[in-house]
Amino acid sequence: MYRTHTCGELRTDHVGQTVVISGWVQHIRDFGGTTFIDLRDRYGITQLVFDMETNKDLCESARKLGREYVITATGLVRERSNKNKNIATGEIEMEVLGLKILNPSQIPPFTIETETDGGEELRMKYRYLDLRRNPLQQNVMLRHRMALEIRKFLSDVDFLEIETPYLIRSTPEGARDFIVPSRMNENQFYALPQSPQTYKQLLMVSGFDRYFQIVRCFRDEDLRADRQPEFTQIDCEMSFVEREDVLVMFEKLTCHLLKTIRNVDLPPFMRMPYSDAISLYGSDKPDIRFGMQINDISEQAKNKGFVVFDNADRVLALVVEGAAEYTRKQIDDLTDWVKRPQIGGSGLIWVKYAADGTTKSSVDKFFSANDLKDWKTKCHASDGDLMLIVAGAEKNIFSIAGELRLELGSRQGLRNPDHFAPLWVVDFPLLEWDDEAKRFFAMHHPFTSPVVDDIEMLLTDPGKVRANAYDLVINGVEIGGGSIRIHDRVLQMQMFKALGFSDEEATAQFGFLLGAFEFGAPPHGGIAFGFDRFVAMMAGQNNIREFIAFPKNNSGRDVMADAPSTVSSQQLDELNIKLISR
Ligand code: AMO
Repeated sequence: MYRTHTCGELRTDHVGQTVVISGWVQHIRDFGGTTFIDLRDRYGITQLVFDMETNKDLCESARKLGREYVITATGLVRERSNKNKNIATGEIEMEVLGLKILNPSQIPPFTIETETDGGEELRMKYRYLDLRRNPLQQNVMLRHRMALEIRKFLSDVDFLEIETPYLIRSTPEGARDFIVPSRMNENQFYALPQSPQTYKQLLMVSGFDRYFQIVRCFRDEDLRADRQPEFTQIDCEMSFVEREDVLVMFEKLTCHLLKTIRNVDLPPFMRMPYSDAISLYGSDKPDIRFGMQINDISEQAKNKGFVVFDNADRVLALVVEGAAEYTRKQIDDLTDWVKRPQIGGSGLIWVKYAADGTTKSSVDKFFSANDLKDWKTKCHASDGDLMLIVAGAEKNIFSIAGELRLELGSRQGLRNPDHFAPLWVVDFPLLEWDDEAKRFFAMHHPFTSPVVDDIEMLLTDPGKVRANAYDLVINGVEIGGGSIRIHDRVLQMQMFKALGFSDEEATAQFGFLLGAFEFGAPPHGGIAFGFDRFVAMMAGQNNIREFIAFPKNNSGRDVMADAPSTVSSQQLDELNIKLISR
């Protein structure tokens, strides 16, 4: 028998019982007369005791064990004289009467403990060992609990989980597709879905009414801490709904998850128009755990002879409460930060409104005390505050101010990961102009319905049309996004036209959906949450790799299995693919 109990289960109630447990050797402490072993499994750690006096042979075998050996121990549960309050099994230990090695282990390449000495690449290479560590075990379990709660919640309100295909047709919109060659259809390719968007819409046409799926999606895009090439969505769609119905339903789901998983009660979610998100927070995913809104002081600061401001489209100011004491070094440091290519700022102007009422700035030469006072009034600053100002072109200065705001929020300790601040961002533009491609792209996707009042502008002034779309943002992270969909063939064709598709192109690519719209498509809408992001957020973290059992690195590689890899020439021949050596 391998076990009667797990390594996390034994308590003082079990004292006096003979039990069997199995697990991995975490620690061996040899004190001559007595040897202690911490035995670990996914449930916890139990201390094993081997006594030289009572059982010399066993004790000697124990000393020969190494870290990560897999063993079975039989023994008597007894109360510890030296209790460990930090672990659940800390009041007992097991006096070992029998020991069996199930499998030895090489010395692991890094310590399998909460704080490990392994670097990221090494841990990725030996992911199966990294996954033995408690933080990752907790993350994987959290993910499971969330998936379970989501399924429970949605099933209870009549959503059906329906699988959609992974081998689908490639479409040019959105991110880049991963493509898969078809052996049976020479020179033709499938794509892996970037999302099940068209399929879930077709399920609405089929009458399923409420659909969800916890589903893998694939996007060949540049990777970051919150982006993986394959990631998981909680994908949802509903029929006979308006925006309000969708927002209410998924606000409830979000609140349910925060309550059951973190015991947090969320207030009603604020709705913020996209234009406010940009002008006040410099981002379409504002972190509203803290204020520090952007102030536009262009009117007060331009045309006073300071060329940096005069040449800029906009002059934007942030007020850092109580930070007038920032040192020269701190400000220089922030200035360098703003000038980093990833941020793209040209510099940083500062004004210190000191607690004693005096004012000092980096532009004293150009502006009078009255000017600086004007700015103070405009921005509702107080004595003791620091004002930081950036100026630049309309197209990127808001995002620069937004990035600076986040950085200041972090530096000032205003972004507590245990505080959750959700909101809906609404009224996105339907289309975004791309200067390079010289055409509009859908800001969400081509199936998003315009706001009804704006439909007329689709053919006359497409850039002005608002989308009936919404994003769920929590703590500055886009957790989910969705929209009310177009369910009318004529409107869908107009949308494709606005995106630069000819009728023939639209029909060739999306004929199946357009066709379905002619057979009684109900009004419908939905949303997809980024499940990996949601789980990470729940744990107060932002690196989604820590919440995916087998993630890719930032170059899209599985460093453990060494994928992607070359394939044999025979495989390529079967697929009729010839490699071109460059
Ligand atoms: P969207 O493209 O906004 O919408 O994706 C929905 C959510 O998925 C998450 N996400 C990602 N997470 C990890 N890695 C990635 N590479 C990645 N890309 C996106 C984000 C995002 O909010 N079909 C629509 C949804 C709809 O309209 O219903 C869609 O896919 O959290």
